[in-house]
Order: sequence, then C-alpha cells, then structure tokens
Amino acid sequence: MTVPPIKSIAIIGAGASGAAAAAAFAAEACFDRIRVFERRETPGGTWIYDPGPKELPFVPGASPPDIDPPLTIPDTLPKTTAPSSQERFDRTPIYDDLTTNVPAIAMCLSDIPFPYGPFTPHWVPQQYISNYFSSHRTDSLLSLSTTVEDLSRIPAEKHSGRDSWKLVLRRHDAARNVDVWWEERFDAVILANGHYSVPIVPHVTGLDDYRKLFPGRVSHSKTYRNPEPYRNKKVVVIGNSASGHDITAALVGVAQAPIYQSRRSRSRWDGPTPPEGVEWKPVIKEFRPNGDVVFGDGSKLSSIDAVIYCTGYRPSFPFWNAKANGGPIYDYVKDGLIGTYQHTFFQKYPNLGIVGMPRVLTFRSFEYQAIALARFFAGRNALPLPPREAQQRWEKERWKLVKRERRKFHDIPWDDGETMDWLRLLFETAGLPLLEGQGKCPPVLGYETRWAIEHIKKYPDYGDGDGNNLRRTEDDGDESWTFLNHGDVKDSLHFI
Ligand SMILES: Cc1cc2nc3c(=O)[nH]c(=O)nc-3n(C[C@H](O)[C@H](O)[C@H](O)COP(=O)(O)OP(=O)(O)OC[C@H]3O[C@@H](n4cnc5c(N)ncnc54)[C@H](O)[C@@H]3O)c2cc1C
Ligand SMILES: NC(=O)c1ccc[n+]([C@@H]2O[C@H](COP(=O)([O-])OP(=O)(O)OC[C@H]3O[C@@H](n4cnc5c(N)ncnc54)[C@H](OP(=O)(O)O)[C@@H]3O)[C@@H](O)[C@H]2O)c1
Repeated sequence: MTVPPIKSIAIIGAGASGAAAAAAFAAEACFDRIRVFERRETPGGTWIYDPGPKELPFVPGASPPDIDPPLTIPDTLPKTTAPSSQERFDRTPIYDDLTTNVPAIAMCLSDIPFPYGPFTPHWVPQQYISNYFSSHRTDSLLSLSTTVEDLSRIPAEKHSGRDSWKLVLRRHDAARNVDVWWEERFDAVILANGHYSVPIVPHVTGLDDYRKLFPGRVSHSKTYRNPEPYRNKKVVVIGNSASGHDITAALVGVAQAPIYQSRRSRSRWDGPTPPEGVEWKPVIKEFRPNGDVVFGDGSKLSSIDAVIYCTGYRPSFPFWNAKANGGPIYDYVKDGLIGTYQHTFFQKYPNLGIVGMPRVLTFRSFEYQAIALARFFAGRNALPLPPREAQQRWEKERWKLVKRERRKFHDIPWDDGETMDWLRLLFETAGLPLLEGQGKCPPVLGYETRWAIEHIKKYPDYGDGDGNNLRRTEDDGDESWTFLNHGDVKDSLHFI
C-alpha cells in the first residue's frame, strides 16, 4: 500500500522554534494546511515580557508531570466552558534588564538579521519573532490564545496508509470570558513548545515546611523582575548559571551585602574569589524551622529575608496523551525525550517532529531542524533517515556517551565540534531546495559567525589561566577543586 503524502501540519508553539518551522514548511509550498497553535496572545515565546510576577506553585523535588498535569477534556466537542483557572506556567521569566547572551549574528535566523547587536534588550528578540512571522507571511497561519490540550495518535484506518494526529484545542475568549474547545486532525505535528516554562527546585531537607512557615521567602528566578523588592534584604541566590549570575550581580549594591550565592559547581565565569559584594556558599543541606539555612560545609545563615532558586527548568508535555500514543514522550528520571533520532525525528512516529530541545545555539539550530523536518515531510530530503534499528542504536549510544561524560542527553557542546557535526547532519539530510524555488536553503555557519560565537562574550571566561576549567567533584561543601577530563569541563556555550 502506498503511504499518502503529508498534506496538513500542526505546529505547537509560536516562539523562535515555531517561527522557524512555519517558515520552513510554508516554503515547501506543498502542504494544503499549516496551522500554528500558540497559547499566548502574541508570538515571541520565552521573549514575551510579563511585568507582573505571579507566585508560582512549586514543590521541591517535583517534576513537570506532578505540577503541570493535563486539563480535564470535556466529554463532547466542540464545547464552551467556564475558563480554566489551572496554572499552566505560560508566563515567561524575562526580567526588566535582561539582554541576550549570544551575539546577534549567531543568534538570529539566517535570512533576517537582528536590527543591531551584539547583545540586545529582551524586546528585540520578541519583536524579531513576531516580525519573522509577518515577513514570511506565516502570520496568517497563527491561531493565538489557543492551547493544545491533547495530542493523540489516530491509528491508520484500513487502506488509509498512515497514522494521523488529533489535537484538542482550547481558546480563551476574553470578550465572553469563556473557554472554547474543539478538535482538529492533522497528518503531521511539529512540537515547538519550548522548555523554559516549568521551574525546577531541588528537594532539600526542610524546604517544604520552610516555605509554609515563611510564605513568600523562597522564590524561583522565573518570578524575578528587578532587584527593588530585595533592597536592604539579606538574600541567598542558588545557582550560578545565566540566571544565578545575572540576578546575583543585579542585587549587589541594592540588597544587604554580601549577597550569598550557593554554587554546586564552578562556572567558567568564576575566578578564584567571588566578585566584590558576593560571598560564595556550597549547596544548601537543610532548611530549619527556626529560619536558619544550613550549607554542605556545616556553616549556617540566620535571619534570611529571601532565597531565590535559579536552578532552571524542565520540559513539560501535559498535552501528550501517553495512553493513545503508546507511552510517555519524556523520561524525567534520565532527563531526555524518549525515542528521538538526532533530537529532531521520532523513531516510532514518522509524522512527528520536534524543534528546539537541545541546549545549543538557539534560533540558528532551530532553523536547521525545521528545514530538515519540512523537507522530510515534503518527501524531498536529500538523504534518507537511517532504518529504525539504526535510529535506536543512535539513541542507545548517546545515552552511553552522556552518562560517561556526565552531561544531559540534549546538551550539545560547541567546543568539541559536536554542534557542527549535528548541524551538518541536519544540513545534509535536508539538502538543497528545488530549482523552481520551493523550500528553504539550510544556511551556512560561516567563519564570521563561528568567530563571533567564540570571541564575542557577554560573560567573559575566567578559566584557570591555562584555558582549562575546573569542576567540583563533591556537592558536600568540600572546597577542593579538581581538574577533570574532557567532557567534565563546562562547554563554552554551556549556559545557553
Ligand atoms: C530567561 C531566559 C533568557 C534567555 N536568553 C537567551 C539568550 O540570550 N539567547 C539565546 O539564544 N537564548 C536564550 N534563551 C533561550 C530561549 O528559550 C531561546 O532563545 C528560544 O527563545 C526558545 O524558543 P522556543 O520557540 O524553542 O521556545 P519558547 O520561546 O519557549 O516558545 C514555545 C512557545 O510554545 C507555546 N506553547 C507551549 N505549550 C503550548 C501548548 N500546549 N499549546 C500552545 N502553545 C504552547 C508557549 O506559549 C511558547 O510561546 C533564554 C531563555 C530564558 C528562559
Ligand atoms: N540572556 C540572558 O542573559 C539570560 C539570563 C538568564 C537565563 N538565561 C537563559 O535561561 C535558560 C535557563 O538558565 P538558568 O540559569 O535559569 O538555568 P540553568 O542554566 O539550567 O542553570 C541551573 C543552575 O542551577 C544550579 N543548580 C541546580 N541544582 C542546584 C542545587 N541543588 N544547588 C545549587 N545549585 C544548583 C546549576 O548548577 P550546575 O551548573 O552545577 O548544574 C546551574 O548553575 C538558559 O537558556 C539561559 O541561557 C539567559
């Protein structure tokens, strides 16, 4: 039986990944229906600025399925219901003075430059993403304020040749203050839903009770907007990646000196001693009911006013119907997508793709993924995907590699050439567009761009003077630092 061509595509999310995907699929000019579903009122994703922080429910040690569960779908569709009040973590973490941290030439999608650079205020990427949709006339594909609440695989009917996908959609109609629910069916789906929505706070002895005893004292960087609420307060910041670094620096001179920064490992930006106004502490071991915070080295702090967890985020897929789709999509124990090939294709579902999961050059890598997927779904890819067994082998080998090198499945380093190899594979899989113009050309990553990535730094490296980096071996407060082998050293783009 011949498999019918893919004619309809749903893209979930209108951030930079969704913008890249919409442009790539539209350019193929062979799909009858492309829709981009976005739960926010405008495109922009992470870059939309929400001025009013909202206290978020967080449970130390919990993962997204616990705190961001699916909504109950109405029994019959279409249907209009009272608006849902369930927290969906759809506000963004953008703070007042946030600027980009990747040079503009390497951050932008290749066919439209950022208006200026190298680092811009947060509103520039937000405007850029909106304009990218309009410039490619893909704004007409947008369905805004529309959340995908369920994504279920529909098995191929007899002789129809291919599975399809059913999406249950919910649109908040603000004028009537109701939620409107309906469903739509598509031949293929692209997940572009981002992974910086659900904040993560580790499990720490006593933290749960501490939050109840001292409401509002412990927060996550997702709700940080500026240092003013912390004026003259005694603050502990946890984490020293991009958020922890920026927030600690912003608090110096505003909050009570010193700002205590709890670090689990040394970042490439840290020298041998903390910057003026900052005191480094090891990982927190315990929160006590009397208000004290105890660190791994046994030291403790009393009379704390605020604790800001800058411990990052984890991806959430509350719409993924594990029952209908034959299993979950994400392994929260191992921390990675289940059954992908090259972080982009799915072994079990040839009509599903994902853009934006790896921690790697952002917008630019989304473009390679989007073009490779569009070309593949159009049936015009230059290289075939390997057989399913080889894709499974790739996944197995990658788990072994990341375990050996103690990194995460979707972290793709720059320094050892892995990023270039990965982009090359996507570039070569896509191949050229048609002579007549259908399709987008996967971009070059030329010398100037690569030079900018390696030399134009928002956060200059401190290193150890030999170009090496150091990593702590223990989380227990032992102050000794150890040189570790390649792979244990933080990549120069680890913070992306
Ligand atoms: C604070 C912060 C600062 C950052 N700074 C930089 C930087 O300087 N440089 C850089 O390169 N990268 C930076 N990043 C990374 C940033 O996330 C990427 O640059 C990029 O914007 C990610 O795009 P995305 O489209 O993959 O995801 P997102 O921007 O998260 O977009 C996903 C979209 O999907 C929507 N969505 C999710 N679920 C659903 C659903 N069920 N139904 C409908 N819509 C849905 C969301 O509302 C969102 O609009 C930063 C991230 C954070 C959190
Ligand atoms: N444009 C900007 O300037 C800007 C600003 C903020 C954020 N961002 C972006 O936002 C995204 C998320 O960044 P993020 O900094 O929020 O998260 P992140 O990069 O995931 O970093 C999490 C941090 O928490 C630390 N950590 C985790 N558990 C800990 C524990 N128990 N005790 C102490 N520390 C702990 C980690 O330490 P280890 O390193 O040891 O794992 C790491 O420093 C990134 O893409 C980043 O680029 C950008």
